[in-house]
Amino acid sequence: MFFRYLDKDIKLGLTIPQYADELFELTDKNREFLKQWLPWLDSITTPLDTKKFIDAQLLNFQQGKALHMTIFCKDRIAGVLGYNQIDPVNCIGHLGYWLAREYNGRGMMRKSVREAVKIGFTSYALNRIEIRCAVDNYKSRAIPESLGFQKEGIIRNAENVYGKYLDHVVYGLLKEEPYYETKHL
Ligand SMILES: CC(C)(COP(=O)(O)OP(=O)(O)OC[C@H]1O[C@@H](n2cnc3c(N)ncnc32)[C@H](O)[C@@H]1OP(=O)(O)O)[C@@H](O)C(=O)NCCC(=O)NCCS
Repeated sequence: MFFRYLDKDIKLGLTIPQYADELFELTDKNREFLKQWLPWLDSITTPLDTKKFIDAQLLNFQQGKALHMTIFCKDRIAGVLGYNQIDPVNCIGHLGYWLAREYNGRGMMRKSVREAVKIGFTSYALNRIEIRCAVDNYKSRAIPESLGFQKEGIIRNAENVYGKYLDHVVYGLLKEEPYYETKHL
């Protein structure tokens, strides 16, 4: 597999079915942690579920409609991020991410998102990149805020997370706003 190295320990790679077992194990171990903010955990109960998800993402990747990447730290999977949805007509990419609890607090996701933004504006010729975070998810919100995304508004009751409707903050970055390139990380 080909990787993009962010430093000597951290690298990003396209998520492939061969990662399904390790990615499922990490998801399962972090289930309660991730359930605070992510609504899909109950649909992932076996490694096969993870594999099916990866297969679906790869199909979308092939059509230029998604790009799902795995984050490795010292060759172990630490989390994932990517464009869950790419709108090729309007040149918009929707970015999402999660990191296992043990890898939090090291700036790893910030670096990974910055790289994904570069990929989006260069390889995918995006004009706009969007990140949506639950209003109270301050750790997630810190990422677009530190990379120069603009806070554009709030969507009320945007997502049903285990029976609770969460409001989302929408962050947007346009290709002529290259703040993320100059920010020292
Ligand atoms: C959201 C999430 C990815 C944030 O992870 P994170 O590790 O806090 O994010 P970063 O990689 O940007 O790291 C920032 C932290 O690393 C610290 N840090 C250490 N070294 C750093 C460096 N060189 N550069 C930047 N930050 C650094 C920062 O101080 C900050 O810690 P703090 O929050 O205690 O102040 C993670 O908490 C998560 O996956 N949560 C559950 C799922 C989720 O919410 N996903 C997003 C849905 S929108």
